[in-house]
Amino acid sequence: MKAAARQQLDPTIRSNDTRDFHQSLRARIVGQEEGVQALVDLYQVFCAGLNSPGRPVGNLLFLGPTGSGKTRIVEAAAEILFGDPRMVIKVDCAEFQHSHEIAKLIGSPPGYLGHRETHPLITQEALAASHSDKLKLSFLLFDEIEKASDALWQLLLGMLDKATLTLGDNRRVDLSQTVIFLTSNLGGGEITELMGGGYGFIKAGDKSAENLDEKVQRTAVEAARRKFSPEFMNRLDKIVVFHPLHRKQLEQVLDIELAMVQQRVLETAKGQFLFRVTTNARDFLLQEGTDQRYGARHLKRSIERHVVYPMANLLATDQVRLGDMICVDWEPSGDHLDFIREGENVAIPVRRPDPVVAPKATQARGGRPVEAPGVTLPPEPTPRIAR
Ligand SMILES: Nc1ncnc2c1ncn2[C@@H]1O[C@H](COP(=O)(O)OP(=O)(O)OP(=O)(O)O)[C@@H](O)[C@H]1O
Ligand SMILES: [Mg+2]
Repeated sequence: MKAAARQQLDPTIRSNDTRDFHQSLRARIVGQEEGVQALVDLYQVFCAGLNSPGRPVGNLLFLGPTGSGKTRIVEAAAEILFGDPRMVIKVDCAEFQHSHEIAKLIGSPPGYLGHRETHPLITQEALAASHSDKLKLSFLLFDEIEKASDALWQLLLGMLDKATLTLGDNRRVDLSQTVIFLTSNLGGGEITELMGGGYGFIKAGDKSAENLDEKVQRTAVEAARRKFSPEFMNRLDKIVVFHPLHRKQLEQVLDIELAMVQQRVLETAKGQFLFRVTTNARDFLLQEGTDQRYGARHLKRSIERHVVYPMANLLATDQVRLGDMICVDWEPSGDHLDFIREGENVAIPVRRPDPVVAPKATQARGGRPVEAPGVTLPPEPTPRIAR
């Protein structure tokens, strides 16, 4: 055998697919670098076929306060890889507290009352729904695992370890092509306390902010170790702590959410129009969205209430029309936003295509394509001469 010339290789270079995935995830998730990185690493290992056989592709525990992106990151990854953010089997552990409720998850054994009517939530077919020719991967998410009953824990431990689940009727579900995500708010209360004021974000200029990240990390992991058994903790590939969002990060979440609203508007059958949101209005939305302990969760509600509902009314009453440019503004001291038409016949931009790794599942099935928030909000109005 002829010896190859020795050559230094670079194991840090990622494939184009992985880079696209990373970039698309970054466009949707603000901060939470560790969570993004964990998903990108898993994806790269899976694409290279190097995931351990007989185990799930990954067992990830996401800890951290409410509204910090734990669920969103899984949905965003599903949106990018499978073309639909709902391509995730979600198990809300709080709903499976009693042993008879486990039947909703795995189906009842034959002969039991209601055997035929209970359709298990986790089945091979349900997992395969996200598969495409190119990517045979599935996501399974267990929310609020601290609320799981003992019966559910036993199932969970088996799944994390052996990548199999036995259904009520003895069929086996293979989870070796599945990423199992587990989320918990454990330590959330303590983290909120650490943040002082109790608001869902860190105030600008807070001197302790640098140490805070580290403290948040430690608090969450310690809370998890206190609550969960070592046999559970040992089955995890990674524990990711999601951090409370800083004010600047909440502003970015606001941008992403507003871009998604703009995308929804551009998808309406009726009046596709553009809107821009002034700095005042953005401040109002942030102020409204951060007065409770809900992180970005409350921000979303504030956008729905103050932007989406009024816009729906404007559309329904034909006050805005196709090609309008609407300015969304706020008069200080007002308790609502103002909507002003400041242009007509504007050119509706074509959306910048998002690098998509896998063919969109919803498109493949003839559904409506799910648009990614790759739109940037339009700048100043650009009136066009003729319609
Ligand atoms: N880091 C983030 N990047 C982008 N959007 C975010 C982020 N964090 C939160 N959001 C926004 O806030 C909403 C709520 O976040 P999410 O559902 O992920 O919270 P969570 O951490 O799962 O909270 P909980 O523990 O209450 O379930 C998301 O749908 C998303 O719109
Ligand atoms: Mg969640």
